[in-house]
Amino acid sequence: MEMPAIVLIGAQWGDEGKGKVTDLLGGQVGYVVRYQGGNNAGHTVITPDGQKYALHLLPSGVLTPGCTPVIGNGVVIDPKVLIAEIDGLAERGLSCERLLISADAHLIMPHHRALDRVVERYLGSARIGTTGRGIGPAYGDKVARVGIRVQDLLDPGILRKKLEMVLREKNQVLVKVYNRKAIDVGAVVEEYLAYAERLRPYIADTRLVLGRALENGETVLLEGAQATLLDVDHGTYPFVTSSSPTAGGACVGSGIPPTRISQVIGVIKAYTTRVGAGPFPTELFDDNGTHLAKVGVEFGTTTGRPRRVGWFDAVVGRYAVRVNGISDLVVTKLDVLSGLPKVPICVGYEVDGQRVDEMPMTQTAFHHATPVYEELDGWWEDVAKARSFADLPLNAQRYVERIESLCGARVSVVGVGPGREENVVRHPLV
Ligand code: GDP
Ligand code: IMO
Ligand code: MG
Repeated sequence: MEMPAIVLIGAQWGDEGKGKVTDLLGGQVGYVVRYQGGNNAGHTVITPDGQKYALHLLPSGVLTPGCTPVIGNGVVIDPKVLIAEIDGLAERGLSCERLLISADAHLIMPHHRALDRVVERYLGSARIGTTGRGIGPAYGDKVARVGIRVQDLLDPGILRKKLEMVLREKNQVLVKVYNRKAIDVGAVVEEYLAYAERLRPYIADTRLVLGRALENGETVLLEGAQATLLDVDHGTYPFVTSSSPTAGGACVGSGIPPTRISQVIGVIKAYTTRVGAGPFPTELFDDNGTHLAKVGVEFGTTTGRPRRVGWFDAVVGRYAVRVNGISDLVVTKLDVLSGLPKVPICVGYEVDGQRVDEMPMTQTAFHHATPVYEELDGWWEDVAKARSFADLPLNAQRYVERIESLCGARVSVVGVGPGREENVVRHPLV
């Protein structure tokens, strides 16, 4: 029987806890595929033996025995970072021998990292607040058709030729516009050919492998990085990443057709966080914000930057449900909200004196949006031990039910702690 593909995405601005949820499902799926982004992602997974892992490029399924992790064609790969991640896991006794890397995925090159940094500096107060990993420039080159792909590592002649061509232009930009040093073609070719030797065993035609896996009755989980509001089309442009984290991107970035996708799981935090610049209507600048950041340990997994923190935004949640076709929501970090007398939920915005219930059409309007709150009563109990919905305090149940009705998708799982077991399961996900 042909089995389905399941997509898992972030519903807000990232760091919703996607890594934990992917890991939770790892035991029930044959393949976990990353389909976009690069090492701008930071996915934290805590395995049942209490080991903590921060994954950047490797799909979270790498931690589950028997699961095949796949890096799809839509990902941009910094090979040095990937090799370091593989070696880091090996040191901790975990093998990546099943890993498959798409021959069509693009490579992050030294000029991408250099340009990411200088362009941000050049933008000054208009900067995006990128992770500085070269993500935007790598996707830019991909779309401009001057990118270098994983398969080019297998053909040294082609690698050199493509690099010579692209650096002819990029070096002019680095030197003449940004006053940086030119990048030496020979040194880069030598460096990347060494990576080629390490990565060669993993390189595969992943869309063929995944197509066959589905035909053979395997279940495939497509793990998104970043999130809906960071999507280059559907997010808060230009304060976005350069790929398509939304569910539609899963097809493009893996080669799995839309007709195979049976379910879209949206991971959403019980409040909101954002790293980097850009509009954020429910952002808190008071003691409540400090409290949530502290209890929720809101520091970036990749850059260590403090995350901006705010109340739950149901306009964003509803938007994510619509754009991704979310069938199941996983509300994470409910435990962080324990101990607040009142828990506000943003149910709409006021934009220039007008009440709106949906994401405004223009960026200007979104910048002007101020939240309209509904105040729910809080709860004091520690919820970390709750495993069924009835174990949650009544006010916590009401909070989850309100999220459900405002967002328009059922809440199937509620996270009550970072560990794999720390969940309230209302409806099994797979
Ligand atoms: P991702 O990028 O979406 O995978 O999320 P990150 O790993 O960057 O950030 C989520 C953080 O929240 C991690 O430190 C997780 O260990 C933690 N986490 C996930 N779910 C829960 C939860 O239900 N409760 C608590 N307290 N922490 C959680
Ligand atoms: P995960 O997968 C949160 C943000 C950056 C910046 C913007 C563009 O862990 O949820 P980029 O380097 O991608 O060009 O930066 O996107 N950003 C993230 N924020 N979580 C992430 O990943 C992010 N990846 C990128 O902070 O605002
Ligand atoms: Mg993260």
